[in-house]
Amino acid sequence: MANAGATRYEVRGAGRAIRWFSPGINDRDHFDVTAHIIDGKALADKMRSKIAKDVADFSGDTGVTPHLAAVLVGDDPASAVYVRNKERACAKVGIQSTLHRLPAETTQAELLELIGRLNQDSSVHGILVQLPLPKQIREKTILDAVSVLKDVDAFHPENVGLIVQGRPRFLPCTPYGVQQMLIHHGVQISGSHAVVIGRSEIVGKPLANMLIQKGEAGNATVTICHSRTRDLKSITRHADILIAAIGLPRFIKADMVKPGAAVIDVGINRVEEKLVGDVDFDQVCEVAGAISPVPGGVGPMTITMLLRNTLTAATLSRKAVT
Ligand SMILES: NC(=O)c1ccc[n+]([C@@H]2O[C@H](COP(=O)([O-])OP(=O)(O)OC[C@H]3O[C@@H](n4cnc5c(N)ncnc54)[C@H](OP(=O)(O)O)[C@@H]3O)[C@@H](O)[C@H]2O)c1
Repeated sequence: MANAGATRYEVRGAGRAIRWFSPGINDRDHFDVTAHIIDGKALADKMRSKIAKDVADFSGDTGVTPHLAAVLVGDDPASAVYVRNKERACAKVGIQSTLHRLPAETTQAELLELIGRLNQDSSVHGILVQLPLPKQIREKTILDAVSVLKDVDAFHPENVGLIVQGRPRFLPCTPYGVQQMLIHHGVQISGSHAVVIGRSEIVGKPLANMLIQKGEAGNATVTICHSRTRDLKSITRHADILIAAIGLPRFIKADMVKPGAAVIDVGINRVEEKLVGDVDFDQVCEVAGAISPVPGGVGPMTITMLLRNTLTAATLSRKAVT
């Protein structure tokens, strides 16, 4: 049925494969495209079971329990929920976590002093500073102060540089989770055109960097879009893989998506007490080949990769002493 030069996309899900051909973006009527749900929650559960086993093996071999120190400054309710979820997730896989809660008026010097102590504490393997920080504290100064070996968010410039060079020590949790979702759902990354909307240091920029690296988890041709991009739709409609990390509720509409594309929705937006993504799920699932939901998509994977990074940090600390 496909004409010459058609692009073949393949998305494999749990036990089934959906294949379709997309010779042109206006030809979708000729093809039966079924959106497959990229279930981040299910993948996260599976990966956390494996992490729990790896943590138990590590602790059995070394007598050391991986330990994450979380730092929360101020009273932002959303940040408090995120940190609580991370602590619970740690407990479930056998990772120790300690919360350092500081008042909103904490000075930069006081926070730096705490980070210095956590860097020195050999029982702490990973340090997580929950963002955003209060206005009187410069985030970059704090993130730069975290030991590169305990930088489980991979925000330190040395760790960012290693990612850019294709020899990562840690991968940042959200992009790492997105990449794992693509891999585990059988989305072909190599050779695909991936369009990342958003150029933040936390999501868009590192994710784009990861997808261009050599190897099967990379090798994509990546376009990065942002608020100054002209005619966004004309770019997104050519994406085999479309990743939205914008922070605007239901911003990506069906006519912005190439039929059969794999769509990953990083966005978390609260609308009328409901969490919604950056993608208009109800519309886009009619066009996409595969799509991640919100909630139940990237969110659980982000925490999962934090757990994986904490175990990696604990392993690195053992290598440093042996
Ligand atoms: N699921 C998770 O675990 C997780 C983790 C992190 C973030 N998030 C969510 O992901 C979303 C993005 O987070 P972030 O930290 O990357 O946000 P951010 O720092 O605010 O970055 C948003 C990006 O979107 C771009 N943008 C804004 N309006 C646009 C438009 N009309 N067209 C094209 N691009 C536009 C911005 O462009 P400029 O650079 O030009 O301003 C910016 O690069 C948020 O909803 C956040 O809550 C989820």
